[in-house]
Amino acid sequence: MVHLRINGMWEVYDLSHRLSIRKGSRLTEMEGAVNCVTPYLRDRKGRLRIFKIRPIGHITNRTLFKGGIMAITLPELPYAKDALEPHISARTLEFHYGKHHNAYVTNANKLLEGTDLASASIKEILQKTAGDASKAGIFNNVAQVFNHSFYWQCMKPGGGGAPSGPIADRIDAAFGSAEKFVEEFKTAGATQFGSGWAWLVLKEGELAVMKTANADTPIAHGITPLLTVDVWEHAYYLDYQNRRPDYLSTFVDKLINWDFVNSCLG
Ligand SMILES: [Fe+2]
Repeated sequence: MVHLRINGMWEVYDLSHRLSIRKGSRLTEMEGAVNCVTPYLRDRKGRLRIFKIRPIGHITNRTLFKGGIMAITLPELPYAKDALEPHISARTLEFHYGKHHNAYVTNANKLLEGTDLASASIKEILQKTAGDASKAGIFNNVAQVFNHSFYWQCMKPGGGGAPSGPIADRIDAAFGSAEKFVEEFKTAGATQFGSGWAWLVLKEGELAVMKTANADTPIAHGITPLLTVDVWEHAYYLDYQNRRPDYLSTFVDKLINWDFVNSCLG
């Protein structure tokens, strides 16, 4: 049993039907105890109650994992499904988030159940299973859960354009200019053969652009992600068909959430 303090805004779901806290109520801070898969939170009288908790708003999976909670969950989208239109349609998000991302969550939990990784953090799972062919199913599904949860937060309605905040100076220093960074980032996305991801990362303290194939993810290699764009066809095919470069340009010009990128700088 691990004790921790959970900060931030949370939605609370009643699984035991014996809760004194109303289903769906939001708490700003709770002290609780976590027993591997199922979170237990104490109510006001100190009684343990079973909850399913999900992050809302901009709270990242990374925040959850700092507390050591095993939480392969489908986080709420940080915006409505039609909020990114006309750049990414509600139909794309219905499939991409509602079907693809959701399936990775379901599969990951099924594959992890009863294994010695069931209580591990996502980062731990990925670092322990990377390159192990016998654990490829776990790696692929857990990595895709992380990648998608991260990707949703990299976008916002009315986003995109020139970098702002501390990341702007870091990009100028690392790449020479924002334009050069954009060129490198879009090239990484356009040249990733088949499915994968393009990233802005912090590697050994330096900013860098990288691409990963299929489900592969920087955190499996000890590299800190700051920004990502999904270049699997399911991310853009309904809206852009085969025009991946157009999707990448729109992502950069209209969608990037630089506030989130800054928050990842730490
Ligand atoms: Fe995807």
